[in-house]
Amino acid sequence: MKTLDSGRTVAEMATENMARTRVFESYGIDYCCGGNVPLREVCERGGIDPDEILTALSACDEESSDDGIDLQNAGLVRLAGHILGTHHAFLWEELPRLDELHVHVCSHHAAQQPQLMKSLELFRALRGEMENHMRNEEQVLFPLCGPIMEGSTNEIRSAVNVLLDGYVEEHESIGQMLSEMRSIHRGYVAGEGMCRKQQALISRLENLERDTHLHVHLENNLLFPQMLRLSEQGAAPAG
Ligand SMILES: [Fe+2]
Ligand SMILES: [Fe+2]
Repeated sequence: MKTLDSGRTVAEMATENMARTRVFESYGIDYCCGGNVPLREVCERGGIDPDEILTALSACDEESSDDGIDLQNAGLVRLAGHILGTHHAFLWEELPRLDELHVHVCSHHAAQQPQLMKSLELFRALRGEMENHMRNEEQVLFPLCGPIMEGSTNEIRSAVNVLLDGYVEEHESIGQMLSEMRSIHRGYVAGEGMCRKQQALISRLENLERDTHLHVHLENNLLFPQMLRLSEQGAAPAG
């Protein structure tokens, strides 16, 4: 691994060791859609001491062991398989459950807390966008990984270019909805007297945000650049 340095981009450092994303999350630093910015600049904007972040990142490197798959060198097909099996599988299961939980909490508390109806409305829009987006990735984009590895054609190359631009835009829109959801729930801090179901709702919404940041990071900063590079190259090495 390269030396930790505040001149390097947040996305680059997150890609090098995925465990570092926990540090970025805890400081509210965007490492996925807006991650291509040097850490120094992000800290200046947010009034954070970069040395504090570098110390936390280095502690995180010491703690994290190499127990997962090496996603950086996994190859396109395995990387796409990991995203599907981990993040898409999580969302297909969690989104309908969160919908039910939302409806339950609204039916009991929306009269006293009108922002809950706003939350449900936004959640439904978010769910629709996420499910459409995943369906397209699963049916159109990810099946191109195998052919790209076998050697790209001009047809694949131009399809990848067009598709990726659209997916990156959709990631940004999903990220904005998640930020809006966070502000509706006042930073996901449990309020005084909040019932257990509502506490579960905000904790699971926060988990949805955390998982989606990692998911989008893997696609924007690892999968998509590899797809672009390999489809430009034509014949790709086996991996
Ligand atoms: Fe995805
Ligand atoms: Fe995506």
